[in-house]
Amino acid sequence: MTLWEGRLGRSTAEEVMDFTVSLEFDRLLAMDDLFGTRAHVKGLAHAGVIEKEEASVLGAALDRVEEELASGSFDFAPGDEDIHTAIERRVTEIAGDTGAKLHTGRSRNDQIATDLRLYARRELARVATRLLDLEEIILRRAGEAGDAYLPGYTHMQRAQPVLLAHHLLAHGWAFSRDVDRLLHSVDRLNVSPLGAGALAGSSLPLDPDFAAGEMGFSSRFENSLDAVSDRDFVCEALFDLALLGIHLSRLGEELVIWSSEEFGFVVLDDAYATGSSMLPQKKNPDVAELARAKAGRLLGHLAGFMTTMKGLPLAYNRDLQEDKEPLFDAIGQVGLALAAMGGLLGSSSFVTERMQQAADGPAAAAVDLAEWLVMRGMPFRQAHSVVGSLVRSSVERGVPLAELVQAHPALGAEALGLLEPGSAVLRRTTAGGTGPVAVAAQAARFRHRIDVDRERVQHALESWTP
Ligand code: ARG
Repeated sequence: MTLWEGRLGRSTAEEVMDFTVSLEFDRLLAMDDLFGTRAHVKGLAHAGVIEKEEASVLGAALDRVEEELASGSFDFAPGDEDIHTAIERRVTEIAGDTGAKLHTGRSRNDQIATDLRLYARRELARVATRLLDLEEIILRRAGEAGDAYLPGYTHMQRAQPVLLAHHLLAHGWAFSRDVDRLLHSVDRLNVSPLGAGALAGSSLPLDPDFAAGEMGFSSRFENSLDAVSDRDFVCEALFDLALLGIHLSRLGEELVIWSSEEFGFVVLDDAYATGSSMLPQKKNPDVAELARAKAGRLLGHLAGFMTTMKGLPLAYNRDLQEDKEPLFDAIGQVGLALAAMGGLLGSSSFVTERMQQAADGPAAAAVDLAEWLVMRGMPFRQAHSVVGSLVRSSVERGVPLAELVQAHPALGAEALGLLEPGSAVLRRTTAGGTGPVAVAAQAARFRHRIDVDRERVQHALESWTP
């Protein structure tokens, strides 16, 4: 039995059902659908469209459906096209004629938009919480790193030494922007579409503001056509998740490189590495590689769904059903990746001797030598050229840089201290730079950022509880 049997004379062809059915994936929305449906029932009673007793009967039927769904005893019927149909059918089986009043004044169009917004706000907040957990791990590792340093790279060439803490926190700040983006997206999507009906509102005395309040939305839709056809929030969520995926992939890539024998900057914990089926000596960074790979999939979801949206006329079109699988998959994959990468990063051992060895090449001090000359009055361009020639001579003639520095009239013995291991890091005193004092201040600000963002998430969660 379909919902539209009154209008269409023949039953739906099997291959149409196969093609259009969404139950397989939208059953994930069951609890959100029940939550929204309870608000709708209250709204019907509030408007006097159904009696208080009828609302109680419907409420009890919804409770029973919830139990059945939660315990796995809910029987899906072959005609259940989607989760809304399944729940409404079951409520009607349980509550008879009263059950048949459930869908009064509502369409699956405003219903699905409501469900998906409820799902998205909760799940995006959950992703934000997991991200904050990852930030916490990064902050801990940064604290443990102390004054250890490694080469900082540009163009994948050694450029200047940086503190390991500074390097780790750089990833941390990217994740903190992801949290911020997610929370802004959640704020924007926290608008109730319920009451828009199929597209035009209702002739019944329903109050969309009341329904919005019942679900803890911050407001109701302004325009019913927009309410049922807008999936900006899905696009935004997919973008947020894709960019977060890109950040994870960049961290993953570095761990892949760092764990190679050539670099040897990190040793992965056995619980977070994998072996090879053939090569007994192998210890592989599969977690980091998959974190790197998932970005492609997440970007695919964003590009795919935005393409689906492009050119869709108002208002609801069945195309919109294609919003769910990419969103569900993106949320699911990001959740898995965050947990695995948190574990990987939290358990890896950094080989700081090796990092420092790589960073201690005399050329690491090149810019410091130039800046030393600048502080003694030489224009920077000239200083750059003086030091550049010294480095070139050192490389070409195989003479240690220290010797050339000492022999240079503008530099001399006094400048030799700049070549000491670690000196280049210690001398970076500017705010936001890699010097230990600046990094300690940065870590404190990062700590504060995490605390503030945790409060923001908490505040959001509380505001949704009607
Ligand atoms: N499964 C549908 C979706 O996800 C629900 C809305 C169906 N509405 C309709 N008019 N056929 O979009």
